[in-house]
Amino acid sequence: MSTRRPLIAGNWKMYKTIAEAQKTASELIDRTAAADSVDIMIAPPFTAIASVAGIAANSRVAVGAQDLFWENDGAYTGEIAPGMLTEAGCRYVIIGHSERRQHFAETDETVNRKIAAAVKAGLVPILCIGESEAQREADETFSVLDKQVKRGLKGLFAKDLKKLVIAYEPIWAIGTGKTATSDQAQEVHRFLRQVLVELFDADFAQSVRILYGGSVKPANIAELMSMEDIDGALVGGASLDAETFARIVTF
Ligand code: PGA
Repeated sequence: MSTRRPLIAGNWKMYKTIAEAQKTASELIDRTAAADSVDIMIAPPFTAIASVAGIAANSRVAVGAQDLFWENDGAYTGEIAPGMLTEAGCRYVIIGHSERRQHFAETDETVNRKIAAAVKAGLVPILCIGESEAQREADETFSVLDKQVKRGLKGLFAKDLKKLVIAYEPIWAIGTGKTATSDQAQEVHRFLRQVLVELFDADFAQSVRILYGGSVKPANIAELMSMEDIDGALVGGASLDAETFARIVTF
């Protein structure tokens, strides 16, 4: 393993009421109080962010959002500005999750604007990328990911992206129980680091945390984390239960 500090992030998607989110967050904070060698983040739905952030203040658990809009304010009904997230207690923001690309018309261009806005607001962006099953079968995995990274980070400089996190989430592995093997994930992560060398430089590429996501659970986290270029995980389903997620955090 490298000197990069692992990050285990939970994406709660559109699950949990405010009360449920508070309960899960409190239990997670208790269960992970001693896990001081990993960074921990949970991304509740927007409605629960402020109250979860209140509970998580002074704990080892950071709070993130699952999306944001790139403008600071304006007539954008339904959208949430970067500054609203920092005010509510967010440190991180997930950007370009495949579910947003699939259901909400996110493109590499909107992802790029969102990454720039997150950086400007001081949020840590988690750029999500991943190939579909058809793309993998057509041997397009690397070219798809290359495009997603380059377009997603277009116009941004290494100095702005010091905290950048990339999450590699093969679409065919999300919520399906089918995890990429640790070798498959490592092969992609190594490739992504090479793309970052090309885009920026080797030092920067070595500093970026690249998470794996897609059916991560207590049973496969240790194996994934043993790989050189896997620096953590973005966990969906298995992050909803505090006991299960704590087992992943303390892998
Ligand atoms: P999953 O979701 O862990 O339920 O597969 C991962 C994600 O969508 O981030």
